[in-house]
Amino acid sequence: MNQKFTKLVVSTEFEVYESEKDLNADENSLLQKAQQALKNAYAPYSNFYVGAAILLENGEIVVGNNQENAAYPSGLCAERVAIFHASAIHPGIPVKTIAVCCKAPGSVMETPVPPCGACRQVIAEYETKYGKAIRIIMQGEKGKVYASTSIESLLPLMFNRKYLK
Ligand code: THU
Repeated sequence: MNQKFTKLVVSTEFEVYESEKDLNADENSLLQKAQQALKNAYAPYSNFYVGAAILLENGEIVVGNNQENAAYPSGLCAERVAIFHASAIHPGIPVKTIAVCCKAPGSVMETPVPPCGACRQVIAEYETKYGKAIRIIMQGEKGKVYASTSIESLLPLMFNRKYLK
């Protein structure tokens, strides 16, 4: 075979915790704030409740939850509600950590929920903007927790402002 390409292999890794109890106290507390926040989600169409809690460099915590709409694409995910809210009320303050969790109807979600593609892109924007890695902590309703030290783990080969120069 005459292959005219080489391969770029991208690997990514996550920390896996058996439960939130294995996180440090601050991260566990942030995750609990995300769990609380999902209770206020407005999700009458999917009944899929998502909560996000963001810790900023100045110690402030800002939460968000998914907000749906009868015109479905007009709704917004929890992660973006939280991160836009944080940027709106604390402009210029880098994001340190975002914790995300969810509750689905009919069963107890024990698999961590990863942010959707659009939310990854938005998290990447703030990571690039401030030049500081954003830690991402993910859980379902209970059980295993995944954590990554940067959005790079979730969005390898990301498009960001560096390409616009
Ligand atoms: N959702 C989020 O809030 N975050 C995600 O990363 C994935 C999906 C919301 C959007 C919608 O309200 C519901 O979950 C079902 O897709």
